[in-house]
Amino acid sequence: MGRRPLYCFPVLKLEVALADRAYPILIGDGLLSDAAVLSRHIKARDLLLVSNTTVAPLYADRVRAALTDRRVVELLLPDGEQYKNLQHVSRVLDVLIANAFGRDCQVLALGGGVVGDLAGFAASCYQRGVAFVQLPTTLLAQVDSSVGGKTGVNHPGGKNMIGAFHQPAVVIADTATLATLPPRELRAGLAEVVKYGLIFDPKFLAWIEDNVDALLKLDPSALAHAIHRSCELKADVVRRDERESGDRALLNLGHTFGHAIETATGYTEWLHGEAVAAGMVIAADMSARLGLLKDADVRRVRTLLERIGLPVEPPRFGAQRALDCMRVDKKVKAGRIRLVLLEKLGAARFTADYPDDVLAGTLAAHFG
Ligand code: NAD
Ligand code: GLY
Repeated sequence: MGRRPLYCFPVLKLEVALADRAYPILIGDGLLSDAAVLSRHIKARDLLLVSNTTVAPLYADRVRAALTDRRVVELLLPDGEQYKNLQHVSRVLDVLIANAFGRDCQVLALGGGVVGDLAGFAASCYQRGVAFVQLPTTLLAQVDSSVGGKTGVNHPGGKNMIGAFHQPAVVIADTATLATLPPRELRAGLAEVVKYGLIFDPKFLAWIEDNVDALLKLDPSALAHAIHRSCELKADVVRRDERESGDRALLNLGHTFGHAIETATGYTEWLHGEAVAAGMVIAADMSARLGLLKDADVRRVRTLLERIGLPVEPPRFGAQRALDCMRVDKKVKAGRIRLVLLEKLGAARFTADYPDDVLAGTLAAHFG
């Protein structure tokens, strides 16, 4: 059943300190094959394992093997962001009801951010909320989406427009799963790693610049550090601002521009991390146009993302279309688009205070 864990690196453990909803994040090589870890942290008797048709054939056996003393029902969703919608939430709820799962069940989300967001949202609705466990298998999910309790699905009119805050009971990130991740997905995950450096931590940003090659080669020590530091920064901001009434909004650097790319292209062409990468360059450029950032800093952001192999410019579908998409965003307040801008590399601000013509000029320069 799967390969034996090697434990070349120790299991790293963090906590998301949210009082009675605090939970651990475990990061380690081979954790999904570790029956002791899984059975200790996954507590319910009745488990619904939600995964997709790509990930389940690779890793579901390991999870099942660790939990032979439980009732494990499995639901496989089709693979893709375009299936992150209410119709597939309904399928999860149908299976929970068909199996008469009670409030003491747990939903296990085995996969990337799509599975995690969708299964977590279904768990938040079922019987007004049952526990769920994140078993993230993409870099993006291990550094970002599995931590912090944002769950939800897309609406044809807007990305992640339907959702709930629902914290997982535990996050178990097995870094060995990244070995099967397509390189394009690895690069998309690295966009979110860069994001943490840009918002919070100039030293981490410099470390990423020095370790791009090691990260792209899946060097275990570099990956472990990148995931651990990213989770540490995310756990800290979630602890301070779980419901995004303040600093947590900074995590949306590049996202408002990126969501416009994803929405306008129908969630099928651009990966989320790719859209965030181009969005961060646009945000950096707008910050420079406002006199916050130096042109050299914008070049530094662009160069790092290019070295990772990420797209740094959006499709030129027009500034007006981009603006229309950006208006359908959870950060819009009193009709005003609020944006995350960079004050310098390693510090960001969330603001609605910018001249409209600077936004218009930025959009025209990048979207045409
Ligand atoms: P994803 O879930 O679509 O996974 C990417 C691809 O990799 C899929 O084809 C998947 O089947 C495959 N895959 C997953 N693990 C694999 C593995 N170990 N080996 C081989 N293939 C594997 O995409 P993602 O980038 O993980 O997540 C993107 C989603 O996350 C978006 O919907 C985004 O909105 C959401 N997100 C949510 C949050 C949050 O806080 N909740 C944060 C960031 C992103
Ligand atoms: N990915 C943004 C957040 O979790 O707040």
